[in-house]
Amino acid sequence: MADTGKPQAALGQRALLPDLQFHVYANHASISPLSKPVSAAVDEVMAAQAREGVGFFPMEVERRERLREQLGTLIGADGQSEIGLVANTTAGVVAIANSLPWRPRERVLVLAGEFPTNVTPWQQAAKRHDLELVWMYAEDFRHDRATALAEFERHLADGIRMVAVSAVQFTTGQLMPLATMGALCKRHGSEFFVDAIQAVGVVPMDVTTMGIDYLACGSHKWLMAPEGVGFVYVSRDKAEQLEPHLAGWISHENAFEFLTGGPETLRYDRPFQHGARMLESGTFNSIGCAGLSASVTLIQSIGVENIHAHVQVWLDALEPALTERGFESARMAEAENRSGILSVRPPDHRPAADWAAALADQGISVASPAGWLRFAPHWPNALDEVEKVKSAVDAILNSRP
Ligand SMILES: Cc1ncc(COP(=O)(O)O)c(C=O)c1O
Repeated sequence: MADTGKPQAALGQRALLPDLQFHVYANHASISPLSKPVSAAVDEVMAAQAREGVGFFPMEVERRERLREQLGTLIGADGQSEIGLVANTTAGVVAIANSLPWRPRERVLVLAGEFPTNVTPWQQAAKRHDLELVWMYAEDFRHDRATALAEFERHLADGIRMVAVSAVQFTTGQLMPLATMGALCKRHGSEFFVDAIQAVGVVPMDVTTMGIDYLACGSHKWLMAPEGVGFVYVSRDKAEQLEPHLAGWISHENAFEFLTGGPETLRYDRPFQHGARMLESGTFNSIGCAGLSASVTLIQSIGVENIHAHVQVWLDALEPALTERGFESARMAEAENRSGILSVRPPDHRPAADWAAALADQGISVASPAGWLRFAPHWPNALDEVEKVKSAVDAILNSRP
């Protein structure tokens, strides 16, 4: 890479995170720490607004257009026409669930075991539009994927309008069979929605080959950006069917024209933008967008495939060490079904939350969602950290009450 004089991101090096207090930060599936370039980008926007007031705004409008392109590249979408910037994953799910032209008795397939972000909005849409929810278990796809996919296809054959799944299950780290599910949806005329916050930034994603129609993603996990900014993808094919139920002033074409134009430019009959862009409604999070753009630049400088491979080496070293010590691993056996997460169940009677707290006492940050002890390293995690985790685990096991 050319020497730009700027600090570069490198696999296994945390020089860009000098303030991070934990010795091992394996908690990227929760909230990531911010790297120096991200904090600097945020500081710059705040300083510009402090200095110039409204004068900082045009630059941020331009930055947003560049950010769209960056995000489009990350998931194989057209940034300009298929990406909308929203506040978080939930805002993206809510926007899609509320903007579709539903017909009564249409069916939405959801998974028990998912993070509630990808369930609550569909439940609410079901109440409001008289839809039916069809439930499957996320765990069935982990334990016996072929059987679960056969059941999935039977549901599609019975008539499903929308399938809503997470790319990666937040508890077990199971990477869902997105390409297979997408292809089945196409075959049976169903639409395919993916909550991708546990994937984008660590798992290579391609909406076209995966047959994804809609996707929502927040930025504070694997995108290593500030909270309060995320994006939604709507495929070009689906853009026209969305209705402007959540539209606001920025949903219109040439939304900013009247801010500097004559009195005739203040109109309420401007056409709406299409698809994902229509889902942007009001003044946006410039600070979050700047941080996100800086972080995506770092991620793209390394490459998501390289990050995924690096994270697998880290987890490959830890997983057998844990299972030898009696932990039960939830990690998928096949490499192609693995994400950035390794979740385990502790071998003793201590709840996963107690284990997470004990590890935190030793300078290791992990999470404990729904009874699983979850390790989630990212590009800055060094491979020699695994030895530190093993030592900490042994110390905790030896302190067994
Ligand atoms: C699968 C999944 N979806 C969504 C979220 C969060 O959604 P939001 O970005 O709206 O806070 C999480 C974790 O917090 C998650 O694990």
